[in-house]
Amino acid sequence: MQTIRVDTPSAKYDVVTGSGLLGSLATRIERVAGKLPRRVFVLTSPEIWALWGDVFLKSFSDPPVALFLSPGEKHKTMPGVEKLLRQMVAAGGDRGSLLIAFGGGIVGDVGGFVAAIFMRGIRYIQVPTTFLAQVDSSVGGKTGVNLPEGKNLVGSFHHPAAVFADIDMLGTLPDRELRSGLMESIKAGIIRDRSLVRFMEEHADEVLGREPKALEKVIAASIRMKASVVNRDERENGLRMILNLGHTVGHAIEQATRYKALLHGEAVGWGMIAALYVAHRRRSITGAQAARLENLIHVYGPLPSLKLRAPKLIAATGADKKNVGGVRRFVLPIGIGNAGVVEDLTTAELKAAVSYMLSQARVSHA
Ligand SMILES: NC(=O)c1ccc[n+]([C@@H]2O[C@H](COP(=O)([O-])OP(=O)(O)OC[C@H]3O[C@@H](n4cnc5c(N)ncnc54)[C@H](O)[C@@H]3O)[C@@H](O)[C@H]2O)c1
Ligand SMILES: [Zn+2]
Repeated sequence: MQTIRVDTPSAKYDVVTGSGLLGSLATRIERVAGKLPRRVFVLTSPEIWALWGDVFLKSFSDPPVALFLSPGEKHKTMPGVEKLLRQMVAAGGDRGSLLIAFGGGIVGDVGGFVAAIFMRGIRYIQVPTTFLAQVDSSVGGKTGVNLPEGKNLVGSFHHPAAVFADIDMLGTLPDRELRSGLMESIKAGIIRDRSLVRFMEEHADEVLGREPKALEKVIAASIRMKASVVNRDERENGLRMILNLGHTVGHAIEQATRYKALLHGEAVGWGMIAALYVAHRRRSITGAQAARLENLIHVYGPLPSLKLRAPKLIAATGADKKNVGGVRRFVLPIGIGNAGVVEDLTTAELKAAVSYMLSQARVSHA
């Protein structure tokens, strides 16, 4: 078991990861948040509840009120949020209530947002159940929902009181979800942690085989990386932008394929390959380093093939909300274990990188 501290100007809390946390959740929550209030809510999805509800309930003497969100981005919406808020009022929720977000990144983002606005804000706990949610979305306090106009356009910063990432729950996660989430760990290694890159290279079989020690090591290192970045730049004014390595092109791929063909991490995997190409051209990394990292991405693949045309993809990057004030901010690795943001990426560079990536992505890596 490992505990990682998030310590920002607005919140201080622990992220705990390891085996067997779920069965003792109530005690663990009381240890950080004090005696459980009159109303405790658990937001989850029907499939997660069917798999893990019994273990979840084991440690509670009074079972929390269960609220359900159907799986899929199309339920991460304002109408979905309103429905949950009204259910909470009907069930007697008040300012002292506590909410537990028990699910993947969608449940975590919606649960965090509901907690941020219910009665002007109540406390909540993240219990992430996907790899991606454990290493990424549950840490850092970003919450929110989609609008018909685009993803994650509404939200707030609202940190949980604690995060409990039980790696046992990954046992039921589909392989593709696991591999997709692992792309964020590769990202973590590339931008901040060389030893994580090396570990993932040397122990790919154990990690992909879900060997608990190997998983815990990768998860804890990824969380540590994210926490250290968030601790220094809570509101994404500077350093936190490096977490977007691979995401400019990754988001464009997701948008151009209408969020249907690829999982988020898979799109980020391709996006990182484009970023590595630019970095190599700018001599920010060597050819050998670029080849090594690209290989690592494929080891944790397969990344689905893409049948997209470069102009469409380049147009989609322009719409990326992360490009502030028209400046094309782009994250580039600097060697292995460091990264920076450049603001002078040219269209020609982007075109070359996207063409290179698409030439690879047309041949399936399955
Ligand atoms: N807030 C942030 O900082 C942040 C960061 C990254 C991503 N996100 C958001 O996270 C969301 C994606 O999260 P995700 O990848 O976890 O997807 P998800 O929440 O859609 O979960 C993926 C699927 O796995 C199922 N599932 C979850 N846990 C399971 C388990 N233990 N066993 C079996 N099945 C399980 C879910 O029901 C779902 O069908 C996106 O909406 C994204 O915008 C937020
Ligand atoms: Zn991501």
